[in-house]
Amino acid sequence: MKFELPQLKYAYDSLEPYIDEQTMKFHHDKHHQAYTDKLNTALEKHPELNFASAEEILMNLNKIPEDIRIAVKNNCGGYVNHKFFWEILKKDILLNGNVQKAIEKTFGNFENFKENFTNASLNLFGSGWVWLILNNGNLEIISTSNQDSPISEGKIPLLVIDLWEHAYYLKYQNRRADYINAFFSIINWDKVNENFINANKMKINNVKGFSDLASEEDVKETISALKLRNINAELVNTKEDALKILKELIPSGSEIMTGGSTTLQEIGFTDLLKSKNHDWINIKDELLSEKNPEKQAELRKKSVTSKYFIGSIHAISKEGEILIASASGSQIPSYAFSSDNVIWIVGTQKIVSTHEDLFKRLNEYVFPLENERMKKEGYPGSTIAKILLFEREIMPRKINLIFVNEKLGF
Ligand SMILES: [Fe+2]
Repeated sequence: MKFELPQLKYAYDSLEPYIDEQTMKFHHDKHHQAYTDKLNTALEKHPELNFASAEEILMNLNKIPEDIRIAVKNNCGGYVNHKFFWEILKKDILLNGNVQKAIEKTFGNFENFKENFTNASLNLFGSGWVWLILNNGNLEIISTSNQDSPISEGKIPLLVIDLWEHAYYLKYQNRRADYINAFFSIINWDKVNENFINANKMKINNVKGFSDLASEEDVKETISALKLRNINAELVNTKEDALKILKELIPSGSEIMTGGSTTLQEIGFTDLLKSKNHDWINIKDELLSEKNPEKQAELRKKSVTSKYFIGSIHAISKEGEILIASASGSQIPSYAFSSDNVIWIVGTQKIVSTHEDLFKRLNEYVFPLENERMKKEGYPGSTIAKILLFEREIMPRKINLIFVNEKLGF
């Protein structure tokens, strides 16, 4: 595999007076070129290596043969870090978008962020880089020495400053502080915001991520999308809060029915129903205690039209599409049409990025766990026989979705 020096997408002098034309020429044409060439030379010794990208190499340095590992680490780092650096440079772009909100939330305000970033840059000893990264959904400022990259540690870069002397010595000599200050005038915040949005998608997209709670940002986005689809949604912090709200939402004396749901067990709703310490009419109780098959069948039909139907879902996209899978399909009529009030309790780990991810989450994550659970309970296993994709409500019904900031259900 062979890498090429990426061309700058702007003129060498376009960052003047903050970074001068001559520095850009040397930095890109000589230094970045040298990292590219040395990376290729190292990789030539192992033609069997085949990675999708240079970033992929940095994520898998342990898979690089030992005889070239250090050369690859340094030069692939130099190759990728500079490629990334060029892209986040542009004059006259103001801080904006989701990344602005995240910076203000994490650091209090932009000035604090600038101060922290500047201090980290001044305190870096020797050559290296200072980064704004996303780590498990949190913004952090970190530094790396030499050409080390946060990518190798599973962290996602959003913004970086090159603190090698070759990046500033021609113009600023030993005045590193002046260079750092000038850097703040040439940050392409549009690109940084794009990096931030993509980083959040990456976090949600990987399979391991299906069990991670969504960021506050993503929950808010999903709630807004649901409202446009005529679905009431809110976020609570704990399962105790969820149970409290659920009790408030269902008036005394109401007829209720529940789907079989791990989430309802975990928040204590199933136990509350069993305790009979409530004054609702629980159709499921009647159904379970009825032994006559004909009467049971009647009650099953009655359960579908229950005034309130409470359960959970399997996945929800940030656009607000809801996916529910079922073996029997018993809860689907109520969710889709026949119950006037539907309440879903949903751990925020069920939020995914895209329409495709809904099905990915169901097939690759939920189903294997549910199948395992059924087997443990002595059943042959589970099956996905029916699927409801709930797009929006157009009927005069009340659909409530309560997100809980805890991992509940699968
Ligand atoms: Fe550099």
